[in-house]
Amino acid sequence: MKKTNVLLLPGDGVGPEIMQEAIKIIDIFNSKNMSEIVYDYADIGGIAIDNHGNPYPEQTAQKAKQSDCILLGAVGTKKHENNENNLKPEMGLLNLRKSLDLYINVRPVFIFQSLIDRSSVKSDLLNNLDIVIIRELIGDVYFGEPRGFKNQDSNKTGFNTMSYSQDEVNRIAKYAFELSKKRNGKVTSVDKANVLEASQVWRESIEKLSKDTYPDVKLSHMYVDNAAMQLIREPKQFDVIVTGNLFGDILSDEASMLTGSIGMLPSASLSDTIGVYEPIHGSAPDIAGQSVVNPIAMILSVAMMFEYSLNDLKVSKIIKDSIENVLKLGVFTQDIAQSDKHVSTSAMGDAIIKEIKKYV
Ligand code: IPM
Ligand code: MG
Repeated sequence: MKKTNVLLLPGDGVGPEIMQEAIKIIDIFNSKNMSEIVYDYADIGGIAIDNHGNPYPEQTAQKAKQSDCILLGAVGTKKHENNENNLKPEMGLLNLRKSLDLYINVRPVFIFQSLIDRSSVKSDLLNNLDIVIIRELIGDVYFGEPRGFKNQDSNKTGFNTMSYSQDEVNRIAKYAFELSKKRNGKVTSVDKANVLEASQVWRESIEKLSKDTYPDVKLSHMYVDNAAMQLIREPKQFDVIVTGNLFGDILSDEASMLTGSIGMLPSASLSDTIGVYEPIHGSAPDIAGQSVVNPIAMILSVAMMFEYSLNDLKVSKIIKDSIENVLKLGVFTQDIAQSDKHVSTSAMGDAIIKEIKKYV
């Protein structure tokens, strides 16, 4: 069996707690000889600032480059939130994304039937919901230059640059079109082309790619404000959504609420050669250290790692099916429980392992 080197970046807040559950999942497949994953650790985010004075230290960057893929918990701390930009925990994550050229962010939004009444949206709008948000991850206002602060007439002003080039749009759009061919052949591109030049280039580029290369995929365009509304009004009209970095950040948090909890959604950040897998939720400092965080988004991120980096659809399906079984049995963490009866983070991990053992 091929050895896979996985770098674990637990990060801050609830990150280490959910990473612990991810490791249990890896260990079980290793012990059954269904994988040969060798893992190593490194610091990122607030913990890296504390230990190395840098949210993305050189040691971490080196290990990241040498690994086959990466699992990440979360970054963000109260302690460092007022630091200057370069010393904020979030910069660790952004540097990781940029330095590994992780331009594709895949955020699947799907429902587990047992949680259908947990959403704040009516359940008849959600049956079998299955959307994928493809978010461009290393461009846009997140990285655009110039950026900074200026002080004119003692009126402090912060400024950023939103930009997209044809090349940046083409490569992310190509991924979305290819994905849609394996699904329903339908792509919705989300922008703000009625106002923003960056979005006008976004729209023109996708239109051209659609005509030239993907005439069989049904492409539609939506302004981001309308898309935010449509996601709640009629979520099932969407299949593959492709959008820029900032709009994708916002729409994916919104979409997570369709599934009942932000604690349910995994993500994959991909370059042409490497993948980083992480929950879409943050470090949740308010509940860190209490063993109440839902580990499912993290465990589903492990499933995505098996699917995308190890090309192992079988293991990925076992993990997803086991989560489905556990939810059917009525085992819930606090965020998805409807009563006072809920289990701890590690008990949820154990319940999922117990189901996995039935398949392996
Ligand atoms: C996400 C997060 C990050 C982002 C933060 C932590 C920098 O919100 O992955 O969605 O804005 O991309
Ligand atoms: Mg976000």
